[in-house]
Amino acid sequence: MAEHIIGIDIGFGFTKATDGKDFLVFKSVYGEAAELQFRENLLGKAKHDEHLQVEINETSYFVGELAERQSSSRSFTLDQNQFVSSSSKILALAALSKLVHQPKQSIKLVVGLPIGHYRQYKDELAIMLKTTHTFTAVDADGKSTDFDITVSDVRVLPQPIGTVMDRLLGSNGTPKNQRFATDKIGVIDVGFRTTDYTISDKGRYSERGSLTTRNGISRAFTKIGAKLKEACNIDIEIYRLFEAVDSGNIKIRGKAYDLKSITEKSFKQLATAIAADANTVWADDWDIDAIMITGGGGAVLAPYIESQLEGVVIPIQQDLDYRLHNVRGYFKFGLYTWQKKEK
Ligand SMILES: Nc1ncnc2c1ncn2[C@@H]1O[C@H](COP(=O)(O)OP(=O)(O)OP(=O)(O)O)[C@@H](O)[C@H]1O
Ligand SMILES: [Mg+2]
Repeated sequence: MAEHIIGIDIGFGFTKATDGKDFLVFKSVYGEAAELQFRENLLGKAKHDEHLQVEINETSYFVGELAERQSSSRSFTLDQNQFVSSSSKILALAALSKLVHQPKQSIKLVVGLPIGHYRQYKDELAIMLKTTHTFTAVDADGKSTDFDITVSDVRVLPQPIGTVMDRLLGSNGTPKNQRFATDKIGVIDVGFRTTDYTISDKGRYSERGSLTTRNGISRAFTKIGAKLKEACNIDIEIYRLFEAVDSGNIKIRGKAYDLKSITEKSFKQLATAIAADANTVWADDWDIDAIMITGGGGAVLAPYIESQLEGVVIPIQQDLDYRLHNVRGYFKFGLYTWQKKEK
């Protein structure tokens, strides 16, 4: 029987996961669960998907949007120091609670780590995940399901490599696009908080040419937010700006504000910094065949970055939310790794 394989990509902005069929995206935020007084949701069933709640070692957590809206105690975004030890486990189990349909099941996991954490934490993360996880998921109606999930094997990849795997491997996990197995490809992964640079040389991760900077999309959003604060004296959380920026305007207390020019300006500035870092970190890698731009921030910045890069850019496939390319690659890498072995 085919192994149950799940890919999980825990970013500073969003946690992304897939079992090859369904994709799950939620904000990488959790907090202690509060007693919900009114479970009845005014909007009915549609919102049920958003209810992410897990109990681990007798502590109950709200995860994602729910934590943001309901946790009485402060919800933590990912903190560098807590990243592997606690945050990643809570976020991973929350993802599993939605993607594993049998409460008692054995699975294999492929997860990504940010470039800056990869070398130091890859073993620790694998050891932490490769065990039997006993936890409880609570749904929107307050009904609990006890899980007993055995993770029998774990692979850890540097995050941006997922996008290369996604292009190299077909949906059944076999190589389909040889160019990604033979060429030297630079990847720029623009996330919420960070931008990661790395090189895939003949399908292998190269530590040389790898870099993490703080130039995530939140840099630009912070500027846009500051401008809005000047205009209407309201603090808007930056993660709320995505849709407003996408549509070009935002309505605050009934008044519309045009965001186009400030967005254009902030994106250009950020893209210039991102491209300049790429040109610097890969200055000696003149033999790079092509560059890919990925990550949720890549979706909005790619056109601005591309024009300033020294090199050829391969556009990523437009069939999927940019945030999900890495995790789809992890899943395919899982198929590639474990199906091959079983044959
Ligand atoms: N549909 C969408 N909804 C919300 N944000 C989106 C969407 N599509 C693209 N984005 C952008 O994606 C960004 C997050 O990208 P991504 O999920 O790759 O970051 P991350 O991996 O969580 O962050 P990091 O790499 O810093 O850890 C958001 O800041 C936003 O600009
Ligand atoms: Mg990321």
